[in-house]
Amino acid sequence: MARLTFYGHACFLFEKNGIKLLFDPFLSGNPQATVAADEVEADYIFVSHAHADHLGDTYEIAARTDAKIISTAEIAHECQNRGLNAHAMHIGGKFKFEFGYVRVTPAFHGSGISGGHACGFIVNLDGFTIYFAGDTGLFGDMKLFGEIEKIDLFLVPIGGNFTMDLDDAVYATKLTGTGTVVPCHYNTWPVVAADPDEFCTKVSDNTAGRCLVLAPGESADF
Ligand code: NI
Ligand code: MN
Repeated sequence: MARLTFYGHACFLFEKNGIKLLFDPFLSGNPQATVAADEVEADYIFVSHAHADHLGDTYEIAARTDAKIISTAEIAHECQNRGLNAHAMHIGGKFKFEFGYVRVTPAFHGSGISGGHACGFIVNLDGFTIYFAGDTGLFGDMKLFGEIEKIDLFLVPIGGNFTMDLDDAVYATKLTGTGTVVPCHYNTWPVVAADPDEFCTKVSDNTAGRCLVLAPGESADF
């Protein structure tokens, strides 16, 4: 069994086989956060980019838990310079970890760090595949990801302004041929306001995917 927990904004915890994967742990200062940075547990921390609403509490959590940070090289090196445990990857790269393999995908967005890139992650654990899109606009290669991977779970931003809005995210769900889609990166602040129920209705009407809305703090089992 696997469990996905939404901690608000774009922060998720995915647990399978006793391994905890934490994505974009922005908790301090996150109006939606349902857990404190000093309470959350992680074995691995995925960082899509270095904007404060994604890098968030990564340094503090990694220092406390000794979790390994997985990110693009510039961010991973910054973590290593701070004495943290980090694995540097880059866009298009694939690597096999103890829990499964990770592909780093492009994300059309700023990096938040000098010389860096924003990214997304495709994570395969025992054949269960998650695509965490990161902060990104819609792009056609999402279709390619759906062809080379069977995406079971798509974690996608719907808030617009900085990322895809919900209509683009519906299209992305269709392109990726996703099984279950969970929206994120919305209603944290007024500038990213979006209606998740409208997103789900449009997912049902336009894709073969299943939409699952998690309120901050809520979990779902897979
Ligand atoms: Ni960002
Ligand atoms: Mn963001």
